[in-house]
Amino acid sequence: MPLHRVIYVSDAVGAAGTSLLAIAEILGVSERNNRRDHLTGVLLGHNGRFLQAIEGARTDVDRLMDRLRRDPRHVNLRLLSDQPIAARMFGHWAMGHATAAPAMLALLNDEDLSAISPAKAEAVLAAAARRLSEPA
Ligand SMILES: Cc1cc2nc3c(=O)[nH]c(=O)nc-3n(C[C@H](O)[C@H](O)[C@H](O)COP(=O)(O)O)c2cc1C
Repeated sequence: MPLHRVIYVSDAVGAAGTSLLAIAEILGVSERNNRRDHLTGVLLGHNGRFLQAIEGARTDVDRLMDRLRRDPRHVNLRLLSDQPIAARMFGHWAMGHATAAPAMLALLNDEDLSAISPAKAEAVLAAAARRLSEPA
């Protein structure tokens, strides 16, 4: 089954972007569902925005995107890229969570996430994934 990777950016609503409890809730459900659906990815929060990569089979990715578009915890979901991929980039995580580290902020260069190019979004998320694989 061919794999696809979708990357989007959205604006957090209310506490969703800042509250650790709200983010933990999202991650808990995401891990459970994504494991079930063989989806992997990473979620990055920065400046009241979410940047998320999701990888998996077309139907599973699309089903999640439908749920995400209806989720009131964020609005203004903008697709940055949607491509077939040869291999997973975030294969270790049902849904990894990264906070914007100084190195990532440098990568982002304080650029508005909604204006980020697909290539840069991938680079930022790849850096987030490398961070997740480092020992704590
Ligand atoms: C920024 C953000 C990222 C999310 N990421 C995922 C995800 O990767 N997987 C997932 O199943 N739900 C994710 N959700 C939650 C979904 O929108 C939805 O609430 C959930 O999938 C419903 O699951 P349930 O039917 O098991 O309650 C995310 C929500 C937000 C706001």
